[in-house]
Amino acid sequence: MVELDKSRLRADLPIGFLDSGVGGLTVVKQALRQLPNETIRFIGDQARLPYGPRPASQVVHFTWQMVHFLEDQGIKMLVIACNTATAAALPALQKEMTIPVIGVINPGSKAAIRASKNGKIGVIATEGTVKSGSYARAIHTQKKSVQVQSVACPKFVTLVESNEYQAPIAKQIVAQGLQPFANSGIDTLVMGCTHYPLLRPLIQNVMGSGVTLIDSGAETVNGVAQLLDVYHMAATRKVGEDHYFTTGSPTMFKTIAMQWLELSGMNVDKAVID
Ligand code: DGL
Repeated sequence: MVELDKSRLRADLPIGFLDSGVGGLTVVKQALRQLPNETIRFIGDQARLPYGPRPASQVVHFTWQMVHFLEDQGIKMLVIACNTATAAALPALQKEMTIPVIGVINPGSKAAIRASKNGKIGVIATEGTVKSGSYARAIHTQKKSVQVQSVACPKFVTLVESNEYQAPIAKQIVAQGLQPFANSGIDTLVMGCTHYPLLRPLIQNVMGSGVTLIDSGAETVNGVAQLLDVYHMAATRKVGEDHYFTTGSPTMFKTIAMQWLELSGMNVDKAVID
């Protein structure tokens, strides 16, 4: 573990967020609400998504490339707003970076344990996250007796990225993806991919009102707020403009992002990271 670089822990610097695509905006949405004085730098690697089916070593490599891009933007903290990247790269990032780094899996796991009354928790995530066993591990470390059922729903990411998450086809794909939970008895379902909260109404509809949905990304923002306090670097007023980058098409990114974040305008540019 390297030491944090105190000269980088300044209140006036932006917070960096990264994801494979627009999913990380579910974390940003919560940050904009909860931490309105903070300045955002976001990068989505849309040119190379989805990350879910990729080998962990490749996800680690791509994640570092985005991290270097954000570091060049002069960030004070890094939020891995992607479960797949958190599962693959968080320990290495926390060990080697000189600013605080937070991922989405621990906050989501804690919230799920708090929410579940019957000790049966479902997790939906990408293949990479499910294969890593990260959620089951994080949940069992805190509470051994909990039963965890993890299911990969790769088609959900495509629905969101193609901006079809409100189209009629989405309902059918979500119902199919959640089929393994029929009669599972779970009372809590973790949306363990930051793209999935865009499908929240459809997911809730299939699971029924008796199942509590956990938005890992939104939970993470509580952790971000705590870290800002611990390092005395919470911004007291907004000093700069938020800036969003994608390795894919800025136009496509902007269409989804402005709608999801309910903004009338935003700065989006193309990023070249390799
Ligand atoms: N949004 C990402 C996650 O939280 C990854 C989606 C993907 O690229 O497969 O896992």
